[in-house]
Amino acid sequence: MFVNTEVCKKCGSCRDECPFDLIVDGRDGFPKLRPAARKTCIACGHCVAVCPVQALSLPEMPVTPALLPDDCEPWPASARIDPDEAERFLRSRRSIRTYKSDPLPQDMVEHLINVARFAPSAHNGQPARWIITRSRETTRRLAELTVEFMALNNVFPGVIKNWNAGRDKILRGAPHVAIVHAPEDGLNPAEDCSLAAAYMELAAHAHGVGACWAGFLMEAAEGYTPIRELLGVPEGHGIYAALMLGFPKFRYRRIPRRRPAEIRWLD
Ligand SMILES: Cc1cc2nc3c(=O)[nH]c(=O)nc-3n(C[C@H](O)[C@H](O)[C@H](O)COP(=O)(O)O)c2cc1C
Repeated sequence: MFVNTEVCKKCGSCRDECPFDLIVDGRDGFPKLRPAARKTCIACGHCVAVCPVQALSLPEMPVTPALLPDDCEPWPASARIDPDEAERFLRSRRSIRTYKSDPLPQDMVEHLINVARFAPSAHNGQPARWIITRSRETTRRLAELTVEFMALNNVFPGVIKNWNAGRDKILRGAPHVAIVHAPEDGLNPAEDCSLAAAYMELAAHAHGVGACWAGFLMEAAEGYTPIRELLGVPEGHGIYAALMLGFPKFRYRRIPRRRPAEIRWLD
């Protein structure tokens, strides 16, 4: 059953929030799921989650499982966080470049990935897939292969020089690196993976875990077969984000300044 007519108040929130207009008013005024939903519903769950009286349940469809109100975590108005606190939290996230040597507990990394699942994605495609190095040796090997790529392509001589002098400017001695990949033929794989990584970075900050985008590795991983082979990235997948991860060695005491926003209002 799609709507429980004993509790539905006909408020229209499910109809208005459906991204593809798959919900219409039935003759009795209760919401009705259009047959097109079987093919075009993206299983975002908004209709079930927005209903104030838990009257909706999505039936199982060819590409999506059923969704009941009880499958969705409650989010009461009282759970909202204080905006000042939220903004300070966002402003205080920093790229961490000095790590303690101890590894992160695996369940902590899994926890961060589970938060990242809630990042927006085009068509709710959720294409991001994760590869996480568990040993320092493998993390270091990836940095080493990145240097190899740089040397072969005659780029970033300073980074190579540092590496040869025992200074890792690529993965900064982080115990782990998280690689985010997705099928290249998706709608917006780069945006989807970047947003998932950004969510992970913020979740890491909330837990006192340090993270930093690994741009050098990302660049090398794009075209250097030894890196792709070590990672075991499936054929047809692109690597769209990489994050160093580990416990930070230092604590930031202040929030650095940033350029003022450039805004042009258009009337
Ligand atoms: C796509 C991308 C690639 C990056 N690559 C690197 C990198 O390879 N090494 C590094 O130390 N920082 C890297 N960073 C971090 C930026 O330098 C950092 O975000 C910026 O200096 C601002 O500092 P904050 O993140 O602490 O605000 C990267 C950031 C992004 C978004």
